[in-house]
Amino acid sequence: MNGPLSLLAELTHRCPLRCPYCSNPVALERREGELDTAEWRDVLGQAAALGVLHVHFSGGEPMARPDLPELVRHASGLGLYTNLITSGVLMDGMRLAALAEAGLDHVQLSFQDVAPAEADRIGGYRGGHAAKLRAAALIRAADLPLTFNFVVHRQNCARIGAMIDFAAGEGANRVEIAHTQYHGWAERNRDALLPDRVQLEAADRAVAEARVRHGDRLAIDYVTPDYHADEPKPCMGGWGRRFLNVAPDGSALPCHAAQTLPGLRFPSVREQSLAEIWFRSEAFGRFRGVDWMPETCRGCARREIDHGGCRCQALALAGDAAAMDPVCGRSPHRPAVDAILAGRPVTAPDLIYRRH
Ligand code: FES
Repeated sequence: MNGPLSLLAELTHRCPLRCPYCSNPVALERREGELDTAEWRDVLGQAAALGVLHVHFSGGEPMARPDLPELVRHASGLGLYTNLITSGVLMDGMRLAALAEAGLDHVQLSFQDVAPAEADRIGGYRGGHAAKLRAAALIRAADLPLTFNFVVHRQNCARIGAMIDFAAGEGANRVEIAHTQYHGWAERNRDALLPDRVQLEAADRAVAEARVRHGDRLAIDYVTPDYHADEPKPCMGGWGRRFLNVAPDGSALPCHAAQTLPGLRFPSVREQSLAEIWFRSEAFGRFRGVDWMPETCRGCARREIDHGGCRCQALALAGDAAAMDPVCGRSPHRPAVDAILAGRPVTAPDLIYRRH
């Protein structure tokens, strides 16, 4: 078994935005429970020794941590490729200069929409869109590679073409259009966010047309929504195969939603080394490989492609994390997904915002 390739370092759950599609847990970690600087430095050192190549500093809003430049410098010194996943609303020239000087390799900047008022409404943060535009200009001026990220849903997916054009116009090298995943807080807003089939087909067309319009001048990543598919996605590239997530309190997770799974104890980096957790913990071994799979999945030609799909989705929709991914057309739980699609209200209910 190989070591992980990527570390998602969730430095904090604190965030100025209140996005209804947030996939962080419903119960957030408080500042007092977060790993401190020395603990994160240790985690980064252990990750590099395990063979991790990329570290994604995330949250919450990672710029809420004053020690972010120190952590970037440490990771960079260890030879890790460093990516900052940020909303940009806390960025200013001095903070970006400190990060660039520390060796930051890449920034992924999130946008809630291309229409400013809608963007601020979805993020629950007045002036957020304008702050993000200022952040984008600073990142471009610092000559850092820049990805724009849009999470899309029924309330904004009509503007996907405009989002991609906006990313190109603002100098992004890459744009990621990701349909909402209904984990954590987002599950509460599913009816308010889930697109219908007609919207989805229009979204797919908008992405295809934008690919033609922009050619290879702009990389476009498109993450399609699960519920309308009939084959599961290879969530996280397979449980415990490539990705290691460390939550703000030090819990090591195979995916950022894994804490919802009952009956599994996710070890903390405060108790065990990353190597012990990765290679020997029950939690990381639980859904690794094919032995745990239901018989249909074990005999399926796609078992090494989708790795059994998403365990958190199986729990949310089938009530059993070890069940076949309910999205799969061969799953006995597929009717649960079809019932959600059929029961989607015509008018979107009010959004339920996070409170921090
Ligand atoms: Fe946890 Fe897919 S989000 S396995």
